[in-house]
Amino acid sequence: RTPYIYLFQGFWCQPAEIQAITTFQKHFQAKESDVFVATVPKSGTTWLKALTYAIMNRQNHFISSKNHPLLSFNPHDLVPFIEYTVYGKHDTIPDLSKIHEPRLFGTHIPFDSLSNSIKGSNCKIVYICRNPFDTFISSWTFANKIKPPSLPTLNLEEAFEMYCNGLVGFGPFWNHMLGYWNESKERPKNVLFLKYEDMKEDLKFHLKKMAEFLDRPFTLEEESEGVIENIIKLCSFEKMKGLEINNTGTFGRNFENKFLFRKGEVGDWSNYLSPSMVEKLSKVIEEKLGGSDLNFRVK
Ligand code: A3P
Repeated sequence: RTPYIYLFQGFWCQPAEIQAITTFQKHFQAKESDVFVATVPKSGTTWLKALTYAIMNRQNHFISSKNHPLLSFNPHDLVPFIEYTVYGKHDTIPDLSKIHEPRLFGTHIPFDSLSNSIKGSNCKIVYICRNPFDTFISSWTFANKIKPPSLPTLNLEEAFEMYCNGLVGFGPFWNHMLGYWNESKERPKNVLFLKYEDMKEDLKFHLKKMAEFLDRPFTLEEESEGVIENIIKLCSFEKMKGLEINNTGTFGRNFENKFLFRKGEVGDWSNYLSPSMVEKLSKVIEEKLGGSDLNFRVK
């Protein structure tokens, strides 16, 4: 059913990605000012990219202006957001010298497989993690939307078994999460570990945390001018889902932007998973993550 997914350096990915990743590992030179948004697919990448971009560029583009780039670009297509995974299809990486600093990158690559240049530098990595129940449902529904018509629909039970065995793009999810989780404990100034559920609950608090982590704390003046509230509105699920670009455009390998915005809720898994599936995934989580202090809110 999935002949095109391979175990590479301990994680699952597609052949086209292997060349890109290898090239980056060999040639990418990190700069101290680089910012990476790192995620497991379907855990809030689009949202986190939009928030990071809005924080980093708030001086350049007045956040509530009608011309703000987030109103006409999907976050994955924003310049200078560069998708680490899809560049470097050949043996060299593209010329990044013209990208203005700080450079923003997005990646799904597990921490251990980032280039040494990134791991050894002082650049910042913002990671978002989402509870595996919702991430699974989001990824299963997404996979069926983007699959070529020639492939049969992936049924829930089959996809669930694969997910519990770690067989999902850039998975197993537990290794991915633990890689960044452990690094965030060791180097909290370089890796910020966020949770989708926490962000949904109190985004203002987490935006301030992100801005401080990125060495761009909100000033009292910005706070009183409502800059944080404006970023929250600009990047909200409703706002982003309603934009024309996100209803008509495409990203990556010609996937429709609209597939990136489904429900944006915590707990939708309860509409899909049977009690035995919940029990099984809970056991997997306990077995794989129980030894760490990483936990999730699931509703
Ligand atoms: P659901 O499928 O559960 O709705 P990614 O961006 O990593 O592909 O993740 C996609 C998930 O994030 C989808 O979850 C999507 O609806 C949700 N999402 C997209 N934009 C969002 C936003 N602005 N706020 C909250 N969630 C968002």
